[in-house]
Amino acid sequence: MNKIYLDQASTSFPKAPSVAQAVYDYLAGSAVNVNRGGYRAAYSVEEQIFETREQLLKLFHFTSGKGKNVIFTENITASLNVLLKGLLKPGDHVLVTAMEHNAVMRPLVQLEKHGISFDRIPCASDGSLLLDKATALLRPETKLVVCLHASNVCGTVMPAQEIGDFCKEHGLLFILDTAQTAGTINIDMEKCHIDALAFTGHKGLRGPQGTGGFLIRNKLAAQIEPLISGGTGSASHSEEVPAFLPDRFEPGTPNIPGILGLHAALCDLEKQSMEEIRQHELMLTQYFIDGILNLDPEEKFLRIIGKKNIENRCAVVSVQTLHMDMAQAAFELDSTYGIMTRVGLHCAPNAHKTLGTYPEGTLRFSFGPENTKQELDIALDALSALL
Ligand SMILES: Cc1ncc(COP(=O)(O)O)c(C=O)c1O
Repeated sequence: MNKIYLDQASTSFPKAPSVAQAVYDYLAGSAVNVNRGGYRAAYSVEEQIFETREQLLKLFHFTSGKGKNVIFTENITASLNVLLKGLLKPGDHVLVTAMEHNAVMRPLVQLEKHGISFDRIPCASDGSLLLDKATALLRPETKLVVCLHASNVCGTVMPAQEIGDFCKEHGLLFILDTAQTAGTINIDMEKCHIDALAFTGHKGLRGPQGTGGFLIRNKLAAQIEPLISGGTGSASHSEEVPAFLPDRFEPGTPNIPGILGLHAALCDLEKQSMEEIRQHELMLTQYFIDGILNLDPEEKFLRIIGKKNIENRCAVVSVQTLHMDMAQAAFELDSTYGIMTRVGLHCAPNAHKTLGTYPEGTLRFSFGPENTKQELDIALDALSALL
């Protein structure tokens, strides 16, 4: 039985072509530390890490930023924790959307216990943002909008440009969680007035797990107290956390094999057209939705959650099986047909409340650049046989 991987929203597979070799070459070849050794092998790795920062600046069109404004962390979750917990003070108020992942919500709910409050900008039942409802939620102490760029539950893409304009108009900071869009949707930090863009390396960027970070403007960085501190290999005469970037937010030895793998993934991405990747993923998404609607036009067995088209959407399709337990369906898709999916609440309980799928959750299919129509035909046949 061939394996068909349709859980790309969780992590991408296969990784970009050069990633595994780059990680192997570093670990088998030199595996030196950075910012500590006074030898050429260390300088060469430092150079590649610097190039990776430059690649990320370019990818997200952060033209006013420099390499130092790109901070590496282990994933987007760590990035959002550093940003939110380092920035917010008792009394501050925050706006999020009604579709957030727990990477945003759990830090905010923790912070709520320390006098920070938040409101959710409502979303329609297909997951799209009702931004015109945001003004009524503003308070004098509102500091920030932090939100995802696309829902990992139903694929709806949020209007980053409009949210950025709203933040600019009202003097708010804007932090964007690009977990489901980096590497497939073009994001312009300058045009969208994004103050910090959090990314993860192992999804659409197709790098290794354990990589991620954030791109940040100097003005915002200066307001953030580091969550973790320690040795940086710089300013070693002092026991104070360095004031300069990226060292201020990068204590300890970084995930060097991971960052070099990410560097390789970004080199691969630069050789491709991101627009072609996006069009391929959208083609698969519409094909799969149409396939389900053909199977079951009256939605007697399967209900598609969210939009039934590809407008403002990424390559994520959630369904509910109406006469079969969804965990059972996911189990049988895997064990009988080799199809890997994800079932449940996908770390986004409030998104399900918005979509009307709480508490049972959804069965989620998500596609990447190397998935094919043939694989989706097999998945559709499997669904038809199961249901
Ligand atoms: C919208 C969104 N935000 C944040 C995350 C967290 O990503 P990571 O596990 O890489 O930190 C995910 C992961 O699924 C996500 O979909």
